[in-house]
Amino acid sequence: MKINENFLKLQSSYLFSTIGKKVGEYSAANPKAQIIRLGIGDVTRPLPSEVIDSLHKAADEMANEETFRGYPPEQGNDFLISSIKEYDYKLRDVNIDEDEIFISDGAKSDTGNIGDIFSQDNAVAVCDPIYPVYVDTNVMAGRSGELTNEGKWSKFIYLDCNQENDFFPGIPKEKADLIYLCFPNNPTGMAADKAYLKKWVDYANENSSVILYDAAYEGFITQDNIPHSIYEVQGAKTCAIEFRSFSKTAGFTGVRCAYTIVPKELKCGDVSLNSLWARRQATKFNGVSYITQRAAQAVYSEKGRAQVMGNIAYYQNNAKVISEGLKEAGFKVWGAVNSPYVWFKVPQKMTSWDFFDLMLEKTQVVGTPGSGFGPAGEGYFRLTGFGSSAKTLEAVDRIKNARF
Ligand code: MLT
Repeated sequence: MKINENFLKLQSSYLFSTIGKKVGEYSAANPKAQIIRLGIGDVTRPLPSEVIDSLHKAADEMANEETFRGYPPEQGNDFLISSIKEYDYKLRDVNIDEDEIFISDGAKSDTGNIGDIFSQDNAVAVCDPIYPVYVDTNVMAGRSGELTNEGKWSKFIYLDCNQENDFFPGIPKEKADLIYLCFPNNPTGMAADKAYLKKWVDYANENSSVILYDAAYEGFITQDNIPHSIYEVQGAKTCAIEFRSFSKTAGFTGVRCAYTIVPKELKCGDVSLNSLWARRQATKFNGVSYITQRAAQAVYSEKGRAQVMGNIAYYQNNAKVISEGLKEAGFKVWGAVNSPYVWFKVPQKMTSWDFFDLMLEKTQVVGTPGSGFGPAGEGYFRLTGFGSSAKTLEAVDRIKNARF
């Protein structure tokens, strides 16, 4: 037996597992500490009542022989697919066909699994900093080369996001085959406009590249000039796959439902990526449960949409409170406006992990060290607006009083 040795190249623990472990140790050593967790972007608001009603109703259907359901359709149930088509795309003047929508259990799984349909030989471009799943899954797949002393993988094309470019990476000079973009961005919270995305779409079409566009945070967009989907940009259907999720918008992190769009126009030579993904999913994925898909469908009802918007507004307000509080405390801050994430510079000369420890020690507030998202994240830190508003206010007070 031989293992996939690429796994050995990775750090033994995933970023958010490391943070969880560190906080667990701190908590065990300081049992009285009132820890406030603003690290992982996990929601805290209960599910909207429309969603709960739909879950109950669907569960009852499973109790009856006449309405019981077995395996769900591999690509998802029509009732959910048509709601997505209608509300997430048609309302924004984007036409997506039903068979281009693949219901799944998460954008994390899909952005990781999509690599299955691409050759190991592809040159992968990743933003730095970036959501670690894109990097780690390509390391697992053998596309990374070796880790250099700078903490970068030798075969990846790094798209540096920094203060100089306002965290919008420039187009690379070399040819990238697979390009991971995430807007509104995790971790920086920055959101791209159409003119910026158009440059990527043109580059991808010219180079026969594929943009893997993670739009999991589109629900947090507040500014009118920011597109919610990459398909709002002309030409994107021949070069982009889009990932969406109910996790951060409708509070489904514990329920699990997401979807991926693979346009039929998107081809590699004569081969449609849509049919490759359909084949991959039919073989390796059992589909999302009927109950869950009914819950997701409820998100699109009139009442459901209003309730979801209420939850998003709640988190957006938290992000604003954090952003303003940090600015008052003298930090340089990005994000928050179209995102639940607030990204800021740590005090002079500290590393992100040193600041993580200091923050935990002085304020008992947990955040995410920027360097956990890649070498260019060193010296930065991320807080999320997904906490309760009371705890968020308390965290901001503690940070202000700590006088870093
Ligand atoms: C994050 O904190 O970056 C996200 O919660 C991670 C995720 O969605 O998997």
